[in-house]
Amino acid sequence: MNWRRLFAKRPGAQLTPELRARIRTSFDEAAGDEEHFPSTIDPRIYHVKLIHDHLGNLAGRRVLDVGCGKGRFARVFQQQEPRAELWGLDISQEMLRYVPAGIHTRAGAMTELPFEDSYFDGAYATESLEHAVEIDKAVSEICRVVKPGGRIAIIDKNAEQWGRLHTPEWEKWFTRKELEGLLRRHCREVSSRFVSYWEDVEPDGLFVAWLAVK
Ligand SMILES: C[S@@+](CC[C@H](N)C(=O)[O-])C[C@H]1O[C@@H](n2cnc3c(N)ncnc32)[C@H](O)[C@@H]1O
Repeated sequence: MNWRRLFAKRPGAQLTPELRARIRTSFDEAAGDEEHFPSTIDPRIYHVKLIHDHLGNLAGRRVLDVGCGKGRFARVFQQQEPRAELWGLDISQEMLRYVPAGIHTRAGAMTELPFEDSYFDGAYATESLEHAVEIDKAVSEICRVVKPGGRIAIIDKNAEQWGRLHTPEWEKWFTRKELEGLLRRHCREVSSRFVSYWEDVEPDGLFVAWLAVK
C-alpha cells in the first residue's frame, strides 16, 4: 500500500499558507470555548494513563505534546512527575496562553517542528494529528524529533467511524492500518488499539491509540 498516494488523493491534502492561517484563526477563536476545549482533564481518563504508561518514567525526560492545545495532558504529567521536562507545540498562540507555567511552549505547525533531530525522549499527540492536513509529513516530523528508542503515542479518531461527529473541512481521521503504515516508516515497533475514556468501558471504535517505539 502506498500511504503517500492514499493520503494525497484526499481533497485538501496540502497545508497551503491560506489553509494554515484559516486553521490557526479557527483555533485561536476557539480558545475561549472552555466547554469544548477544556484546559484540564481528569487524570483518571484512560487516554492519560495509556500515554503515561507507554512513555514510562518521565523523571528527567524531555517530552513533546504535539498540538497541545491548552496543555491539559502535559498539565497532568507535570503534576504526576515534576522532574519531567515538558514541551507543548501548537499552531494557535491563543491556545498556548492557557498552558501552565513550567511547561515550555512553541508556536508552530507540526509539519515543520522547530526542533533538532532526536531532541525529545518521547512525544505524544492527542486529537491533533487529525488537523495536520499533511499527515505523512507531520508523522515524519514527530518521529524525526524523537531519539532512537524513544516512544511515541498518538490518539485520534478512527476513519471507519467518519461522520459520527461534526468536523471542519480539513480534518482527517485514520484507520488503524493507515497510521500504523506511516509510523512503520520511522519506528521499529508499532501497534494500535481501540480505546475509550474509561478503562472499564468497552471501546466503541471511535478512538484509536497508536503506540510506537522509534
Ligand atoms: C482538538 S485540539 C486538541 C488539543 C490537545 N491535544 C488536547 O487534547 O487537549 C487540536 C489542537 O491541534 C492544534 N493544531 C491544529 N493544527 C495544527 C498543526 N498543523 N500544528 C500544530 N498544532 C495544530 C490546534 O490549534 C488545537 O489546539
